[in-house]
Amino acid sequence: MAFSSRPIVIGNWKMNGLAASLDQVEAVRDAIAKGQAGRCETGLCLPATLIAAAAARVEGSRLMIGGQDCHVASHGAHTGDIAAAMLKDAGATLVIVGHSERRADHGETDMLVNQKAQAAALAGLTPVICVGETRAERDAGETLRVIGRQIDESVPRSTDPKTTIVAYEPVWAIGTGLTPTAADVAEVHAFIHRRLDSLLPSGGTTIRILYGGSVKASNAAELLAIDHVDGALVGGASLKAADLLGITSVYR
Ligand code: PGA
Repeated sequence: MAFSSRPIVIGNWKMNGLAASLDQVEAVRDAIAKGQAGRCETGLCLPATLIAAAAARVEGSRLMIGGQDCHVASHGAHTGDIAAAMLKDAGATLVIVGHSERRADHGETDMLVNQKAQAAALAGLTPVICVGETRAERDAGETLRVIGRQIDESVPRSTDPKTTIVAYEPVWAIGTGLTPTAADVAEVHAFIHRRLDSLLPSGGTTIRILYGGSVKASNAAELLAIDHVDGALVGGASLKAADLLGITSVYR
C-alpha cells in the first residue's frame, strides 16, 4: 500500500455550489469529527463565493478549505481575479493551480502555473499543482515527455515538499468515467516522484502526488492502493458528502 506519507483526499467543486450546498461541507466535517471519514486528511476546494462561509463552519475541524485558482500578483488592477492572500484571508489553506480546465479555458501556461504556485506559497497556502496528458498525447506515446515538461516548468524550484501537493490528472479521465490502468498510474506517479527529486534542491520524494480523474467510491480502493499514489483529487464525486466519504473511508 502507498499509505506511507499522510494521504489526503481533496474535493474540487469546480463551478458548482450555492450557499445551500454548505450542508455538504458540514456533513463531511461531522463525519471527520465522529471518526467516520477514514484516516486521511481531507480538503474541499470550493467556489470563491463559498470559502469564507465554509471556513467559518469548519472552524476547529480538521477539514481544510481551499480555492481553485489564484492570481500571480498579491493585489492590484486585475478585475475579476482573486489573490492568494484573499483566499487565505477568507480561511483557505489550499489552492488548486494549473487545473487542466484552467489551462484549456484560460490558456494558462506552465510558466504562469509556476508563478501561481509561488504566489500561493508566499501567501501561506498549500498549492495543489495539476499536470496531465491529453488523450492524443497518451495515444502518441508522449505521456511521460508531456508530464516531465509540465513538472519541470510548473513546479517552482523553491517548492517546500511539505507544503506542496502535485496532482496527476489525465485530461481524458476528468469527468468521463474513464481511468488509466493501475500500471499506467503507477508508472506516471513513480516518474513524477523521481523527476521532482532531481528537480528540487530540497528533494521531492516526500511530495504528495494525488491521482485525479473519475475517482469514485467504487474505484477508490484500487486507485489509492497504487504505489506513489498519496491521495486523490476528486471532482464530481466530491459534491455530495456521502460520495466523498465513500472515497476517504478507503483509508481505514
Ligand atoms: P472528476 O474531476 O473527478 O469529476 O473526473 C476531477 C478533477 O477535475 O479534479
